[in-house]
Amino acid sequence: MTTQEQLNQSVMGTYGRFPVVIAQGENEACVDENGKQYIDFGSGIGCTSLGYCNKAWTEAVCKQVKTMQHTSNLYYTRIQADFAEKLCAVTGYNKLFFANSGAEANECAIKLARKYSFDKYGKGRHKILTLVNSFHGRTLCTLSATGQDTFHHYFFPFVEGFDYVTANDIDSLEEKLDDTVCAVMMEYVQGEGGVHALEQAFVDAVYEKCMAKDVLVIADEVQTGVGRTGTFLAGEQFGHRADITTLAKGIAGGLPMGACLANEKCAGVLDKGSHGSTFGGNPVCCAGGLAVLETVTAPGFLEEVNRKAALLRKELAAIPGVDSVSGLGLMVGIALTEKKAVDVVNVALEKGLLLLTAKDKVRLLPPLTVTDEEIQKLVTVLTEILAE
Ligand SMILES: Cc1ncc(COP(=O)(O)O)c(C=O)c1O
Repeated sequence: MTTQEQLNQSVMGTYGRFPVVIAQGENEACVDENGKQYIDFGSGIGCTSLGYCNKAWTEAVCKQVKTMQHTSNLYYTRIQADFAEKLCAVTGYNKLFFANSGAEANECAIKLARKYSFDKYGKGRHKILTLVNSFHGRTLCTLSATGQDTFHHYFFPFVEGFDYVTANDIDSLEEKLDDTVCAVMMEYVQGEGGVHALEQAFVDAVYEKCMAKDVLVIADEVQTGVGRTGTFLAGEQFGHRADITTLAKGIAGGLPMGACLANEKCAGVLDKGSHGSTFGGNPVCCAGGLAVLETVTAPGFLEEVNRKAALLRKELAAIPGVDSVSGLGLMVGIALTEKKAVDVVNVALEKGLLLLTAKDKVRLLPPLTVTDEEIQKLVTVLTEILAE
């Protein structure tokens, strides 16, 4: 029996998988069961932010595995304290809650925003506005928050109290921002929705109008955070810090972790017993997270991310068959003039490149450690594929 057959026999068929069995990886490259090599420009959908088995990350994680893999949140651990302190210091937030995924970090943000409003204003001010075309996760609540109709089937009833504003449409925001709203939640760059960065004027309007009504702004930086866009948080490039920011994906270099960060205004809202997670802040994940944080905040690291992102974007835009390049930093969407993204990704796989799609675009989320040589290799192969 092949690995594919074995897995499909026992694992629910929720994923459309490529016919490849990834066996091992080192830095930006991985190898399949048959020994074929790939350069990974998807990072496990943005998670292996330092590539596969980065040296400092591996050492930190292995050391923690050998020391203590888990204890409950009934006790304190030094590694959780160190990671939380540093993450708050780097991002400028007051407090955080540790979750295990992006959806869970967003669940926490939604609960926090509703309780903030309930504590201060009482019932009836619980609505959360999100953006059309957004993606916030796969739990029932975060599916309800997701502003895409394709996710609103089968699982009725969905969680009530969400409405959707057209991205970059300030009139649509004004119209929906009534007295029942407690928060606006947005991705600065919509990832799954097709790698679209929000316009500055719209982001400014969200902050201005929310602040005037004491409506919280939640930035879903699950995909854009931890250096992906060239700054630690994408919000820095828009000149804003949300009341609540959620992180996951690259935060612990490929271990399951999410975080919901809250500013002074709302850091005390979730009190004893109001939220929790058995695995949240797991010591091994915190060790991985601390290694990522130390690497990404080291002098010069983000400058290099920006340099490589500029190089990648310039080279991609010059390839015949590329219509435009969207996104920010190393979060890249490639719109094609003729070829279908999914076909390009399948041919790229045969040629030893792991790429992603988002809607009708080819999408790249390379490790932040991607090298110039790997970028050149990608450009050469893409040029070949688009000329075929
Ligand atoms: C912006 C955003 N929010 C939330 C999620 C959900 O994260 P997870 O799959 O870790 O639950 C994703 C995943 O793609 C995402 O891109």
